[in-house]
Amino acid sequence: MKEIVVSGIRPTGKLHLGNYFGAFKNFLTLQEQFDSYFFIADYHSLTTHPTPGDLRGSVKRVLAEYIALGLDPEKCTVYLQSDLPETAELYLFLNMNAYLGELERVTSFKEKVRSQPDNINAGLLTYPVLMAADILIHRGIKVPVGKDQEQHLEMARTFGNRFNRLYNVEIFPEPQAFSPSNVLVKVPGLTGGGKMSKSAGEADSIYLDEPADSLKKKIMKAVSDSGPAEPGSPKSAAVQNLFDLMGLVCAPDVISFFDEEHQKGSIRYGDLKKQLAQDMETFVAPLRDAINHTLANDKQLDEIAAFGAEKARKSAKKTMDAVRDAIGFKPKFEN
Ligand code: ADP
Ligand code: TRP
Repeated sequence: MKEIVVSGIRPTGKLHLGNYFGAFKNFLTLQEQFDSYFFIADYHSLTTHPTPGDLRGSVKRVLAEYIALGLDPEKCTVYLQSDLPETAELYLFLNMNAYLGELERVTSFKEKVRSQPDNINAGLLTYPVLMAADILIHRGIKVPVGKDQEQHLEMARTFGNRFNRLYNVEIFPEPQAFSPSNVLVKVPGLTGGGKMSKSAGEADSIYLDEPADSLKKKIMKAVSDSGPAEPGSPKSAAVQNLFDLMGLVCAPDVISFFDEEHQKGSIRYGDLKKQLAQDMETFVAPLRDAINHTLANDKQLDEIAAFGAEKARKSAKKTMDAVRDAIGFKPKFEN
């Protein structure tokens, strides 16, 4: 039997380079070899209370991006999380054995407590439980995600193992974060902070449909420093970020040229950024065209979602029959 791959992205905005290189690029290779499920995590996005209109628009956009960037609904299962309500059912069951102490210790939860003290809802606290349900419902093993999701994967293993142990079954395997080189990628943002993120504001991210002019502007404005203090000085964090971005789209000889210039202390960041902007535009241009084309085709998107939902339900049914049976919900009392 082929190993099962599961991953999802929350529809909280347009996809950016971090989503692409951290997660999506692996979706494309995995769909060729494994039984893969890629979904749009619309339940998860409810923690931030989107309006119905915004939610619908964002889900459509991510679905269009999935398809435009190369997911093939014939090769893998592409679906919306809310088209698989079995996920919510499994989430409910897993919640019964998820404990306040362990949920409160999750880094992403602690960050939210700090960053949005006015909206610490129970959905945020149990976010890792819902994510575990997403993965376990298909008995996923390989989960292509970025580095920031490692701790959530660890919790998915905990909840799956706990269920198996509690009910003396072997329903759930242990899912692992997947990256081809086993090094999880972190794409930095343009504003000098940590990872490129939708929540860090417009200027931080380069979107996969970024128009040519704003792409150039964003890169030219990216944070750098005032230049190496002397030849051989180490790169500052902001400059290392620029080199990391070059690593995604520039040829190796271009990168070593600027590396040497930095070593010598004679680097001109303006030149580096111009080159980065040019190579980034070459990378983004075909993606931008494909996304805009797919977004205009509502009928195709509806058909893809319906087709994927059906395939996802088939896989979920098998798991949920076993789960309900293990818990003691009997479909029939007569033997
Ligand atoms: P964001 O942080 O922008 O809200 P999501 O949390 O929706 O993005 O991330 C979706 C997927 O993309 C996850 O697998 C996540 O690990 C990956 N990802 C997001 N940002 C980055 C980044 N800057 N570098 C690497 N992977 C990332
Ligand atoms: N938590 C992930 C993120 O923020 C999105 C996600 C939800 C996910 N459910 C998942 C990723 C299941 C992989 C598998 O990026």
